[in-house]
Amino acid sequence: MCGIVAYIGEKEAFKVLIKGLKRLEYRGYDSAGIALINNKETNIYKCQGKVSDLENMVKDLDISGNIGMGHTRWATHGEPSDKNAHPHESMNKYFTIIHNGIIENYSKLRKSLEKENYKFTSETDTEVLANLIEYVYLKAKKEKKTISAREAVRTALNSVNGAYGLVISCKDFPEKIIAARKGSPLVIGISNNEYFIASDASPIIEYTNSVIYLNDDDIAVIGKNGLNLKNIKNIIKTPHIQKIDLKLDEIEKNGYEHYMLKEIYEQPRAISDTYRGRLNYESKFLRLGGLHNVFKNLKDAKKIIIVACGTSWHAGLVGEYLFEDFTRIPTEVEYASEFRYRKPIINKGDIVIAISQSGETADTLAAIRMAKKLGAIVIGVCNVVGSSIPRETFAGVYTHAGPEIGVASTKAFTTQITVLTMMAMSVGLANKTLSKEQFNSLVEELYLIPKKITQILKKAEQIQKIAHIIKDSTNSLYLGRGYLFPVALEGALKLKEISYIHAEGYPAAEMKHGPIALIDEKMPVIVLATKDKSYEKIISNIEEVKARKGIIIAIVTEGDESIKKIADHIIEIPYTDFSLAPLLTVIPLQLLSYYIAVMRGCNVDQPRNLAKSVTVE
Ligand code: F6R
Repeated sequence: MCGIVAYIGEKEAFKVLIKGLKRLEYRGYDSAGIALINNKETNIYKCQGKVSDLENMVKDLDISGNIGMGHTRWATHGEPSDKNAHPHESMNKYFTIIHNGIIENYSKLRKSLEKENYKFTSETDTEVLANLIEYVYLKAKKEKKTISAREAVRTALNSVNGAYGLVISCKDFPEKIIAARKGSPLVIGISNNEYFIASDASPIIEYTNSVIYLNDDDIAVIGKNGLNLKNIKNIIKTPHIQKIDLKLDEIEKNGYEHYMLKEIYEQPRAISDTYRGRLNYESKFLRLGGLHNVFKNLKDAKKIIIVACGTSWHAGLVGEYLFEDFTRIPTEVEYASEFRYRKPIINKGDIVIAISQSGETADTLAAIRMAKKLGAIVIGVCNVVGSSIPRETFAGVYTHAGPEIGVASTKAFTTQITVLTMMAMSVGLANKTLSKEQFNSLVEELYLIPKKITQILKKAEQIQKIAHIIKDSTNSLYLGRGYLFPVALEGALKLKEISYIHAEGYPAAEMKHGPIALIDEKMPVIVLATKDKSYEKIISNIEEVKARKGIIIAIVTEGDESIKKIADHIIEIPYTDFSLAPLLTVIPLQLLSYYIAVMRGCNVDQPRNLAKSVTVE
């Protein structure tokens, strides 16, 4: 979704902004723009397209100034176009603004501003906000009242419904910028007499690791020599400066052609980081510190509801199998967007687990707020430290996957499953629904997962060859049973989002209730068929596909001889306990999608129409 970067200090703002916008490209966007503030003059440059188009556009133009703001836009109100790109100016050019989020009542506000003779040059909700702030400001001036830019912003924001992360400048106060947040994250980086404002920490970390995360309703006024923080009720707040532990090489490609490939290859390390310090192989000790305060509630829960979106929802589905198997606690998995608009039944003692890589997904956040209102204890499973979800949940476990930049989620999925496995194991052991022997054997197996993933990654060349064979397909089917059904869904999602091939994931047994009609000699059917209790059944499903001439690609356990005879292509993976099989079986599917997308010339890291952090509902 949209990206924000702003700078105030001694450096040339242009360079900081362009570099920052490039770091934010991973979020997905369709246009880019900057405003450079040089005393009373503000130069705004913006265009549809990439940050590199913007760079080309300004080549011979005035890019001077030590204060500025930059934005990458992911269209919500109004098509991607030059005029809808941010920054937006108010009609009389008093205010310049960039915005993430959505102003829900913008249409009503626009009509009332039109009655005050305001004219609009774009279709955006952001321009409405710029004009509203200006209207408040000029009205006060006309009435000979003293008004600061902050006060105009504050008053305007009081009439706004919706979500925003905002950076605003006012031509009457060219030495200052204002940052305001409600629902859309903003981080302020602090260095010597300079400040960096961004929608996430990635444009900031090469300059400083001291940051302030704005909270909802915060409004900060920032000058070269200081920052003044109040909330929307005008109450003074003390900024809480934190150190972030994010390194530059973690957000760079480090020689890989794409972030997605780098992140696929990072999974052995990422999973070890997820259990490091929590799980001990020698002593078979497992402790999730972040659950300390709620562990008893979790252990005694009558019901667990997992809420998430997209890939995180698929991890949640694996969690359902894990919790039911290991803990015998009834577990449901809900799309956050559905959960929040229903009348979910939450009883005393129910636990809601919210899973999110970014920690900023608007629907997941809304589901958390609703669950809290209904009295549930909410636990977060997140990757981005300091993001909104961990700050709004009672307790939680970080996945420690490291920054995930590729829009298609990979290491987030496997590390989320690792966390859910450890949660279910610890509750199962405490409740004696998992025996000590089973627990110990799972600890041992979990420890071997990174090594086994490394073995699978060595099959990249073979997977590339299979990708070549099916790269021109228009449809595909992914089948799995039990723990591998969510993996089938995830494999299909990975393929469709980055290669634009239509893909469906199904429980293998459901195939005969409909999708089997699609199978012909052009249809690749990817079957997850490792050895577990439904192995014989999945062989029957493969036979059914074979009888209809589908192209069978089977992910099988090393040494499997039976499926080798029926399938067109097999990818062998090491054996693991069936409950951990999602961690291994998903790896060839990620690689398969990746190679297919590359062969089709798709933009793997920034697939069309998609955004990394979905901060709109
Ligand atoms: C798919 C993908 C999305 C996200 C979804 C939730 O590859 O990345 O489906 O999984 O938007 O995002 P988070 O996990 O950040 O809440």
